[in-house]
Amino acid sequence: MTPVHDIRGAHHPLDRLQRPLHDLRISVMDRCNFRCPYCMPKEQFHDKYRFLQSQERLSFEEIVRLSTLFAGLGVRKLRLTGGEPLLRTNLADLVGDLSSIAGIEDIALTTNGVLLAQHAVDLQANGLRRVTVSLDSLDEAVFKRMSGGFAALDQVLGGIEAAIAAGLTPVKINAVIERGVNDHTALDMVERFRGKPVNVRFIEFMDVGNRNAWRPEMVVPSGELAARIRARWPMHPVGAGYRGEVASRWRFDDGAGEIGFISSVTAPFCGACSRARLSSDGRFYTCLFATEGLDLRTPLRAGAGDAQLLNLIRDAWLNRADRYSELRDELRRSEPGHKKIEMYYIGG
Ligand code: GTP
Ligand code: 5AD
Ligand code: SF4
Ligand code: SF4
Repeated sequence: MTPVHDIRGAHHPLDRLQRPLHDLRISVMDRCNFRCPYCMPKEQFHDKYRFLQSQERLSFEEIVRLSTLFAGLGVRKLRLTGGEPLLRTNLADLVGDLSSIAGIEDIALTTNGVLLAQHAVDLQANGLRRVTVSLDSLDEAVFKRMSGGFAALDQVLGGIEAAIAAGLTPVKINAVIERGVNDHTALDMVERFRGKPVNVRFIEFMDVGNRNAWRPEMVVPSGELAARIRARWPMHPVGAGYRGEVASRWRFDDGAGEIGFISSVTAPFCGACSRARLSSDGRFYTCLFATEGLDLRTPLRAGAGDAQLLNLIRDAWLNRADRYSELRDELRRSEPGHKKIEMYYIGG
């Protein structure tokens, strides 16, 4: 398809903390086939929960149009997320359209892996470069607890194998660690994937949204976990792969690959945060912990031109001063009821 906006020479905005807009994370589906308690606790996201109607979600055409505009403002990397993005029919078609946008250099997907085996080849063929699979434990009982009661571990492992076979490597694994729930199974994950084209990343449990009953005591600081892993498999830190990388990376001394830690609680990384988020109903968020998003769907459907939409997005970015993770303790004290967007809706 022809880009509606030529990125060459375009003005790339910096926010109020001098951060560029580089990375757009697009939630294509608010529904999920899991109910991870840290994201969509099943008591709240039950059968009667009102998810979006399909016409409320952006169409592929609308996503492509907005992504093209974002590319014009400096976005080079797209990540498709959910809920569960593979619940969106024909997702590979969207990947194909996005990969032809001028300026987009990298397209990745974050999935729970259940449906990955059946889609990996098509996604890769249409231009997907990389995939991140959420997997919190290899212990069946712990897995089931952390997915909200689903016994789909074999399917997820099959999805990871299919992604490797399709060349979507290195596959990244996101493991959210909760003290007393799955921290005792973290080393098994390392053992299982060492020496494979898979990078396991341990994520500190975060207080995203208002529904996951987060408490600071449930967080296992990355430093503590790294020390346990290091005692068994010596490893050394390696520099960031790019400016603003979320994970801090460690490589095994024996050459068996690398792992990462995402430490938004003990070592916030807002300083270089160049990530923007688009919800499945077309709201633009400048932080994972934002309260409000900018509605782009209404002007889009009312026939707004590119210039008008670009101005809306640019102004929101120019006004951005978000750094929630750095202010977490302060905000939790001063605004205990601080309303935040939910993870399932904005996609991690
Ligand atoms: P690549 O480096 O491109 O592979 O992406 P990534 O490391 O950003 O990976 P991914 O998108 O899988 O992010 C991993 C996890 O880090 C997410 O699921 C979130 O839990 C967390 N995360 C990502 N971005 C942010 C952010 O901007 N702020 C905070 N606090 N957490 C984030
Ligand atoms: N804390 C940390 N990470 C989370 N994720 C979802 N909820 C949380 C949370 N409360 C991560 C999952 C998944 C991605 C979509 O977001 O690991 O990989
Ligand atoms: Fe679904 Fe991912 Fe949320 Fe789990 S973390 S409920 S897999 S969107
Ligand atoms: Fe970026 Fe907000 Fe995460 Fe900080 S808390 S890294 S500003 S998304």
